[in-house]
Parts: sequence; C-alpha cells; structure tokens
Amino acid sequence: MSKLGLNIDHVATVRQARYRGVTHGLAPEPSLYTAAQYAIKAGAHGITVHLREDRRHAQDSDVIALRRLKTNLNMEMAVTPEMVRLALKYKPDEVCLVPENRAEVTTEGGLDVKGNFKRIAAATTKLREHGIAVSAFITPDLDQVRASADAGTNYIELHTGAYANTETARSRAAEIKRHVNAFDLAVSLGLRVNAGHGLHYTNVKEYLRAVPEIDVLNIGHSVISRAIYVGLDKAVREMLALIQ
Ligand code: PXP
Repeated sequence: MSKLGLNIDHVATVRQARYRGVTHGLAPEPSLYTAAQYAIKAGAHGITVHLREDRRHAQDSDVIALRRLKTNLNMEMAVTPEMVRLALKYKPDEVCLVPENRAEVTTEGGLDVKGNFKRIAAATTKLREHGIAVSAFITPDLDQVRASADAGTNYIELHTGAYANTETARSRAAEIKRHVNAFDLAVSLGLRVNAGHGLHYTNVKEYLRAVPEIDVLNIGHSVISRAIYVGLDKAVREMLALIQ
C-alpha cells in the first residue's frame, strides 16, 4: 500500500497569518509539532515540511521540533548552499529538492534537474554522504527522470499538479499515461517513486489505480482544509482509507 506523508505547511500558514515575527513569549498556535502528533496517531506514515528560503510557512524551530517525533521526516527545500547546510544540521530522514520562486503561492513547477544537473548532483552527493535520502520533485518527463537517476537521487516525486488541474476525462487519461511512463522508467533505473501536489479526496483514487506502486503520497492542502470541518484525526483517517 502507498503511504501518506502529511505535508504540514498549511498549519504554518494559519499560524503565520497571526504570529509572523513572534519568536518568544507566546506559544503561537496552531503548533506544527502538535498537529503532526495528531496526524501520526491517526496513521500518517510521515511528515513533510517545506523550509522555504523566505520562511513564509515553516520556521527552523518547526523543523527542529518535528525532528524529535518518531516518524519519517521529509524536508522540502530549494537547492541552495544554505538549505543544504541546514539539512545537514537538522538531519531529516529525507529531503525533497524543489524549485522555489518567491512570488509563487505554492510550489508551481517541477525541478529542472537536467538544466541544473551539476548543482543538483553535487547537493545530492553531499546529502547522501550524510545519510539523508534525496528525492527530486519533477514533472513526469522522461528526460527529468533520467537526469534524476544520473544525479544520484534515491527517489523522484512526481508532480501531480497538472493531473489535478485536468478538466476532462481525456486530458486526465493523457496526464495519467505520462505518470505511468515516468514511473516505469524510474523503477527501471532503480529509483523509488513518490507523488504529490494537488491531490485531494476526489482525485487520489483514480491516480493510485493507475500508478498503484507509488511509495509515498505527499498531501497537504486538502487534508488540512478538511481538518477544519472534521478535525485532523478524521481527515487523515479518511485520506488513508482512500489510499487503501
Ligand atoms: N509535494 C511537494 C513537493 C510540494 O511542494 C507540495 C506542496 O506544494 C506537496 C507535495 C503537497 O501539495 P498539496 O498541498 O497540494 O497537497
């Protein structure tokens, strides 16, 4: 069965809406650590957190706190010297290398591993030397899959944003085919495959039916949104039931 990695960034979105810049004297809520505890209790297999260069969501202190939990911690990050240094310091179980654009609301495109090969391969080598597994967040393009394998990543994470945005059965089928092809190539090259972005309670089943051997689905916005209505425990359990 595929696993659920709960992306916890939007818990930080809510906190930062009120407490941006507050670093002491209060216990700003909601706490990512407490939310992660609820999610793990409900069965989430891991926690994903994006430490952005501008710290608009998660803060360094969140990553340090989340690291104390006994769960798989996946830190999303841009491929910069500062982030590589911080990953070596905070020691997540894995990092997911993502493109980062300060103007974007959320991660929009996939990482251009082919176009930034040297930088990504060097970061990957350094992280892996320190025992951190590396994933590259890419669109389902075969060239990017090959480049990720050549760069030495352990995983790719297939960007499901275009799948989630399809409006017709035909475009969805075409997008799914791209994912199946990328998945097959990745596996043949010895990579493990995660997926995420834009997955929600009504589109996750169709995706998994087509690509059932995805290792981890990293899902955030839909689960955190549903948690507003039903609580995080139930929101996580409902997503896990769909994945099953
Ligand atoms: N995977 C990656 C690499 C992401 O950057 C994000 C968040 O943008 C997600 C998964 C989760 O996406 P969503 O919040 O749409 O579920």
